[in-house]
Amino acid sequence: MRSHRTSVVPLKAVSPEPSGSGGAMPTPSAGVAGKRQAFMTVRGLRKTFDNAVVYDDFEIDLPLGQFISIFGPNGCGKSTLINMISGLMPMDRGEVLYDGQRIAETKISYVFQNYREALFPWLRAIDNIYYPLKVMGVPRAERKRRVEKLIEEFEVRIDLNAYPYELSGGQQQTVSILRALVTEPEVLFLDEPFSALDYEMTLFMREQLQKIFMKTKTTMLLVSHDLDEAIQLADKVVLLTRRPTRVAEIVDVNLAWPRNLDATTSESFMTLKRHCLDRFWKEVRA
Ligand SMILES: Nc1ncnc2c1ncn2[C@@H]1O[C@H](COP(=O)(O)OP(=O)(O)O)[C@@H](O)[C@H]1O
Ligand SMILES: [Mg+2]
Repeated sequence: MRSHRTSVVPLKAVSPEPSGSGGAMPTPSAGVAGKRQAFMTVRGLRKTFDNAVVYDDFEIDLPLGQFISIFGPNGCGKSTLINMISGLMPMDRGEVLYDGQRIAETKISYVFQNYREALFPWLRAIDNIYYPLKVMGVPRAERKRRVEKLIEEFEVRIDLNAYPYELSGGQQQTVSILRALVTEPEVLFLDEPFSALDYEMTLFMREQLQKIFMKTKTTMLLVSHDLDEAIQLADKVVLLTRRPTRVAEIVDVNLAWPRNLDATTSESFMTLKRHCLDRFWKEVRA
């Protein structure tokens, strides 16, 4: 596990070939043969709320096509960060690029923490899933094809003709995730998506999300306040400091997928967790 405080890299140099060694650039895992690893890049980010500085000159490079978890002290700005890099919230200053492209040129989706407010209560589950495709103006036949494929692929065992209030919390959040995936986003943002679910459902949903990731390889940016979850689901765990918030470390999680019970109780998992916790406490007490 290396410390990953990245140095300032000229923007144009980020998505192309990184320097082989020596520099503080993150070393991307080899992409598909011949294909360079693409990065999501944040530079010079500043964000304040009423005089409270949350981010100042913040920067990070994250590989696209990977599952990234974000973990840090309460109130350090995890939600604020993914809201800004997904374009939901304006930055005071700074730039976010996806493999050199701006957010407006990147297809993203967002899964909110509060599934109760995220689904349209007057629409059946299935029509909630159809909704984004309608908004995008996708023709009816194509809409049907895409939704049916999605439902089949993820072996959805929910009555999709039910209204949200007729579904359990886990089922509602599953519908939210399906709705987010139906547009085939390049990046999926998830802000503590399972935190309102009971423990059993949370464990089940973590399995589901892993399946989705293994199948789609959609870049995932997950905020979690649960370190086990952050490690279990991620290729990389971003550990944030207290405000003004910086990257304390980016920890590589080199565990085989899927991460089942054996994986999450293994010695290597515990070693990673211990490392992250040590770092976390150091930041919290700093
Ligand atoms: N809309 C807002 N107006 C004022 N302060 C905010 C707003 N959103 C977040 N904050 C403040 O910014 C800090 C970071 O918030 P947030 O990103 O929600 O933290 P986290 O998700 O890490 O718990 C907190 O101190 C919070 O009170
Ligand atoms: Mg939050």
